[in-house]
Formats: sequence, C-alpha cells, structure tokens
Amino acid sequence: ALLDIEQLRATIRTVPDFPKPGIQFRDITTLLADPAALHGSVALLAEHARASGATVIAGMEARGFIFGAAVAIEAGMGFVPIRKPGKLPVETIGVDYQLEYGTDRLEVDPDAIAQGAKVALVDDLIATGGTALAAAELVRKAGGEVAAALFVVDLPDLGGAARLRDSNIEVHTLLAFE
Ligand code: PRP
Ligand code: HPA
Repeated sequence: ALLDIEQLRATIRTVPDFPKPGIQFRDITTLLADPAALHGSVALLAEHARASGATVIAGMEARGFIFGAAVAIEAGMGFVPIRKPGKLPVETIGVDYQLEYGTDRLEVDPDAIAQGAKVALVDDLIATGGTALAAAELVRKAGGEVAAALFVVDLPDLGGAARLRDSNIEVHTLLAFE
C-alpha cells in the first residue's frame, strides 16, 4: 500500500470541545506537518481522482484548497477554487445552502469550469455533507459534471457521505472517525 491507514489516522489530532462544548474536533494540522502522511494521503486521493475519470480538481475553501491543489498537481490536473462569498473579482455563479443556524454560500468563477468538464471535488473532511452537496450543485450550474467527491476524513455519524451517495455521487474517504 502507498500508506498505512492506521499510521495516517494517528497523525490526526482530536481536540475536545472545539468549536463548542461536546464536539470532538478532528484537526488535520498535525497530518499536514507529517511528510509521509501528507504525500501519502494526497497520492491516494489522486489515484481516486484519476480512476473516477475526472479531468479537473475543485477544492472548497479553505482546507479543501490545501488538499485539492496538491491532488491536482499529483494527478497532473488543473485546480478550480470554490470560494466563500465575495472573494472572486469577477461575476460568479453561486449556491446558497443551509447550515444548522442560518445559511452560507459558495461561489465559483464560471470560466474556470469548461463545459462538460469532469470534476473531482476534494476537501479535508465530510461531516453533514452540506458543503459538498452545495459544491456539487455549483459545479453542475457552471456546466461541469461531478466525477467523484474525495475526502481525507469521514465523520459517518453525521451522514454526509451517505447523503452524497444517495444523490448518485461517487464518494471516497481515506479514514473514518465514529
Ligand atoms: C469544514 C470542512 C468542510 C466542511 C465539512 O470547513 O473543511 O469543508 O466543514 O462540513 P459539512 O460536511 O457539514 O458541510 P469549515 O466550514 O470549517 O471551513 P474552513 O475550511 O474555512 O475552516
Ligand atoms: N473537524 C474538522 N472540521 C469539521 C469537523 C471536525 O471534527 N466537523 C465539522 N467540520
């Protein structure tokens, strides 16, 4: 194997009570500092990207930029940033989505996605799947197809990967924390 998954798991730091009491926050800062874990996780995600038939990688701000750009380089593909609102200097395509309290929005430069492009979404972690489902809708609105959605960490109790699969998106995650 390219990377021992238990070794990868051991590089993720769990921070209790962040951002609020009762939440066990799975923090990738410690994974990023470990060269074998960083390259190994990126190489595995790049294999899934290639196998999915993707032609381009899109990453969600902010942690999806770290892994997404690295995966794009590893896979020999270009990278599309999916941004928080108000950041891009051009007229954007946007999708609003529900959070637990309130709403959020993702935006993309429509010229960054070629018509019919096969896009692999990359992020560090999937929780409820709200971010990834909004990103998938945004890719389609921009004229692309979603080839796959790729994550380092899955929090299966929050149901995000299942929600994506229910909407016929191919999902790959490297490790899960119950
Ligand atoms: C985190 C994470 C994913 C998203 C997952 O990002 O990096 O993008 O939440 O949650 P979901 O599956 O419930 O949507 P966050 O919103 O904390 O933004 P950041 O990357 O800017 O810190
Ligand atoms: N870690 C990092 N990001 C997250 C988490 C987590 O546990 N839950 C939701 N977003």
